[in-house]
Amino acid sequence: MTRLMLLAALLLALPARAMDRAQCLPYPANAKYTEECGSCHVAYSPSLLPARSWRKIMTDLERHFDSDASVEEPVRLALEQHLVEHASDNEDATCRMGMMNRMLEGEAPLRITETPYFRRIHRPLGAQAWKHAKVGSPANCGACHAKAAAGRYVSSEVRLPSPLKLADRRMGGCM
Ligand code: HEC
Ligand code: HEC
Repeated sequence: MTRLMLLAALLLALPARAMDRAQCLPYPANAKYTEECGSCHVAYSPSLLPARSWRKIMTDLERHFDSDASVEEPVRLALEQHLVEHASDNEDATCRMGMMNRMLEGEAPLRITETPYFRRIHRPLGAQAWKHAKVGSPANCGACHAKAAAGRYVSSEVRLPSPLKLADRRMGGCM
């Protein structure tokens, strides 16, 4: 196959929405979710993890990364439904943001920051970036993604705290 044919075949294989960057923009806002899951860290977009991860996270909120994030049962259930509905493995999710790339079937990571896609897309930053005084943890998305609270993570909207810089090899893209 020529390169061009290969490219065309690849493009055809992609679902239409993966190619539309606009689709990578906000997921439907949910005030309860922002309130309950956005008080200690940014309310992570549900499209950052598959449903199986969210279910696992929502079963043990009392021991949530060494914090107690527990909520009353009806609220817990509503939050879980919101997460599952817009999860990264849901075909109807606003945007899957590539989070399922390279993830093994059935794998249910508890951290977005430990998914293969997250590691790969952030590799050009170098591990030192997480130690920057204004970052502190890779989970602190808002330090670089100014619109993280609205579920917006596109490369073009990244603002790195100085003096952080990207290595030459940029690898943006919504897939
Ligand atoms: C009481 C504080 C608190 C609340 C409330 C809270 N979390 Fe967290 N969460 C944490 C801490 C602390 C971490 C670990 C952060 C780090 O490693 O820097 C964390 C990490 C996470 C991570 C993993 C981040 C990564 O490394 O990829 C996810 C996903 C997450 N929380 C989801 C939720 C959801 C969903 C809710 C609402 C049900 C919630 N959190 C509510 C404290 C909280
Ligand atoms: C230290 C800064 C920093 C932090 C913290 C950070 N990111 Fe990023 N992120 C970047 C940079 C820089 C890029 C663009 C990489 C490129 O263009 O090569 C990026 C790219 C991305 C992309 C791909 C965007 C696209 O256009 O396809 C996603 C998705 C993403 N980050 C999610 C997250 C999430 C979720 C968190 C928190 C759990 C996070 N990032 C934390 C710097 C950061």
